[in-house]
Amino acid sequence: MQQSLIVLDFGGQYKELIARTAREIGILSLVKPARTSVAEIRDLNPVGIIFTGGPHSVYEEGAPDCDSEIFSLGVPIMGICYGMQYIAHRFGGKVAAGKVGEYGETEVNIQSHSKLFEGLSDKETMLMSHTDAVIKVPEGFVVTATTSDCPAAAMENKEKNIYAVQFHPEVKRSKQGVKVLENFIKLICRAKCDYSLDDYIQNQIKIIRDEVGDGKVLLGLSGGVDSSVAAALISRAIPDRLLCVYVDHGFMRKNETEEIKSAFKDLPIKLVVIDAKDKFMKRLKGVTDPEKKRKAVGKEFINTFARAAKKYGKGAYLAQGTIYPDVIESGANNSANIKSHHNVGGLPKNMPFKGLVEPLKGLFKDEVRKIGAMLGLPSNLISRQPFPGPGLAIRVIGEVTEEKLTALKESDFIFRKTLAASGEKADQYFAVLTDSKSVGVIGDYRNYGYVLCLRAVITDDFMTAEYAPLSYKLLDKTAAEIVNNVRCISRVCYDVTGKPPATIEWE
Ligand code: XMP
Repeated sequence: MQQSLIVLDFGGQYKELIARTAREIGILSLVKPARTSVAEIRDLNPVGIIFTGGPHSVYEEGAPDCDSEIFSLGVPIMGICYGMQYIAHRFGGKVAAGKVGEYGETEVNIQSHSKLFEGLSDKETMLMSHTDAVIKVPEGFVVTATTSDCPAAAMENKEKNIYAVQFHPEVKRSKQGVKVLENFIKLICRAKCDYSLDDYIQNQIKIIRDEVGDGKVLLGLSGGVDSSVAAALISRAIPDRLLCVYVDHGFMRKNETEEIKSAFKDLPIKLVVIDAKDKFMKRLKGVTDPEKKRKAVGKEFINTFARAAKKYGKGAYLAQGTIYPDVIESGANNSANIKSHHNVGGLPKNMPFKGLVEPLKGLFKDEVRKIGAMLGLPSNLISRQPFPGPGLAIRVIGEVTEEKLTALKESDFIFRKTLAASGEKADQYFAVLTDSKSVGVIGDYRNYGYVLCLRAVITDDFMTAEYAPLSYKLLDKTAAEIVNNVRCISRVCYDVTGKPPATIEWE
């Protein structure tokens, strides 16, 4: 049976990051609630357990704790932040609010030749984020690191095989943090580290088969990375029993619907494309406010999808491409929670489904992309940029009309083509059709056309972004090609605002 590393969740915000880092190091890693029974943990064949951080104080009433049998399992344990304080408290040490809390990158003095710190220097920068701290380690434990404000930044009891750190090794801002986790997993837990995303795929295939039995699955395919990879994975598990419903609302980019059809044509799934363009356009007639547009598109989408579900989904399971960041965004950890911000959000309660299948739920975006590639999805689909659920409807400012939508599709297509050909890079780029008009001249004719804006940004997480410093040559070429080919556009601008203060989309 596959070895695992269990991450016991004491309420910390980085729990999935610990699990993901462990997976990258090469061990199957699963996040489990703090009170998970020792029997359940034993069944998962753990070679080590990590206690996460958390916002509580060990002295608080109802502070999270774990089954005390866990300490008798005979596998190494590592506590992080609250996890360390919990261990100290549990074994008779002392925890108290420090003189000052430590928040941010902090210099840590590595004091011993602990296996946990093998390969580290005497001084390392690690991320601290705590008010309470261990001020006296329990009997049998030794201090293995300190900071100027923290007398025990790490401790261990080799005999009991328990290790603990006050800092957060799992975050990037802890420079050698990954090395600490790697030492725990490889040197202390002696994990085989033979786990790969291929194991993830095989494991999910088994779970889907067990869950669905001989039933069928319906999935709302948006053409985005997550729902596409979920579709490919489910079709591996239950070939020919997956039905994908793709609602064509007419606001996809040029050629995108055809690309999606073509990406799925060789997979053992049935793809139903519902052409609902006219209905969506009708709904948007006279709507200019962006929030109202979002709501109108969302509502029409739900109606269309619900009708399709009634027709095709009786007794089926509903599949979604929910990934880990969606679970955080919707503030829930409950599998029955329907992904709220995406296309299938807010489905009516009385849907005919037997249950929910979410095979990507514990994964981060880059892991989903890797799985997509392993399942043979084309690279343009896997590396697809984020795209708003209401699509180009919110990139046409003001009322959406056929003329404006077509002009935006064409311009956006030209921009994507010229940027790709130039070799210049941006993490997200698109065109926006503003609602302003401006006089231009084409040949000897006055051209009173729309102002189009190009947007391209550099970003890691899409929460903050800088505008991409595209070359004048590229902007020049793009503007000329757009104005020459898209008649109703008279002028092209480039957005040089970062986020904040702007957002990435224009709405
Ligand atoms: P803003 O405009 O808020 O956008 O800076 C941040 C990122 O989110 C994308 N975005 C969406 N993604 N459904 C999505 O899946 C949506 O409705 C949606 N709206 C915006 C946006 O393209 C950018 O990458």
